[in-house]
Amino acid sequence: MATFIVLLGPPGVGKGTQAKILADTKKLAHISSGDLFRENIKNQTELGKHAKSFIDKGELVPDDVTINMIRERLNRPDCEIGAILDGFPRNPAQAVALEKMLAEFNGQVKAVPYITAPESVLVERISGRWTCRANGHIYHQMFNPPKQTGVCDLDGSDLYQREDDKVETVTKRIRVYLEQTIPLVEYYRKSGKLIEVNGAQAVEQVSLDLCSAVKNIIL
Ligand code: AP5
Ligand code: MG
Repeated sequence: MATFIVLLGPPGVGKGTQAKILADTKKLAHISSGDLFRENIKNQTELGKHAKSFIDKGELVPDDVTINMIRERLNRPDCEIGAILDGFPRNPAQAVALEKMLAEFNGQVKAVPYITAPESVLVERISGRWTCRANGHIYHQMFNPPKQTGVCDLDGSDLYQREDDKVETVTKRIRVYLEQTIPLVEYYRKSGKLIEVNGAQAVEQVSLDLCSAVKNIIL
C-alpha cells in the first residue's frame, strides 16, 4: 500500500522546507498545492488565473478546483509508492476527498506531522523568504541565505518574493488558517494520526524530529 504523509502547519512554519528534505531522504514525491498553483499562475493557465484571484487575497482556492488539481498530480507515476503532501488537505472537506482519492490508488494517509511555531516566528520567516522562480527552492535572507544574492544555489534561476507574502496578506492567511485549517488538526487528532513537531527550532533539528516522528511509518 502506498504511503502518504500529510504535513500540517500554519503559513511560514517550514512545511515546504521540511517536505523537500523528507521527500528527498525517503525517496517519495513532494506534492505542494501552493507550488502547483504558482506553476499554473506562471504559465498563465485558466486554473492559474482563477486561483490567483483567491491567493492574492490570502483566501483558500475553492475546494473543487484544488481537489481536481491534486487528483491529476496523484495520477503521475512518481506517486505510485507514496508522497509527502504539503498544503493539502487544508480543511476537513479536502481531507475526506483525499481519503476517497487515495482509496482508488490503494494508498492511505499514514501520519500527519503537525509543525507549530508562534505567530512572531511565522512572520519573521515569511518576511525574509526568497523563492526560486524555476523550481520553488526556498531560502531565507538570514536563516538560509543563498550563496549569491538573488540566485538559486541549486538551479541558478532568480529568486523572488511571493506576492502573497505582503504583511496584509500574511495576516489574512494566518486568520484563514485559524478558521479553516485548525478544524482539520482536530480531525486528524481524533483519527490518532497527528504527531506534533516543534517548528520553532533550527531547520536541521525540526528535520531530525520529523524523521523520528515518522520512523515507524516510512523506512
Ligand atoms: P502555500 O504555498 O501552501 O502557503 P502556506 O501554507 O501559507 O505556507 P508557506 O508556503 O507560506 O510556508 P511554509 O510552511 O511552506 O514555509 P517555508 O518552508 O516556505 O499556499 C499559498 C496559497 O495557495 C494559500 O494562501 C491559498 O490561497 C492557496 N492554497 C494552497 N493550498 C491550498 C489548498 N489545499 N486549498 C485551497 N487553497 C490552497 O518556510 C518559510 C521561510 O522560513 C523560508 O524562508 C524558509 O527558508 C524559512 N525557514 C523554514 N524553516 C525554518 C527554520 N526551522 N528556521 C528558520 N527558518 C526557517
Ligand atoms: Mg510552502
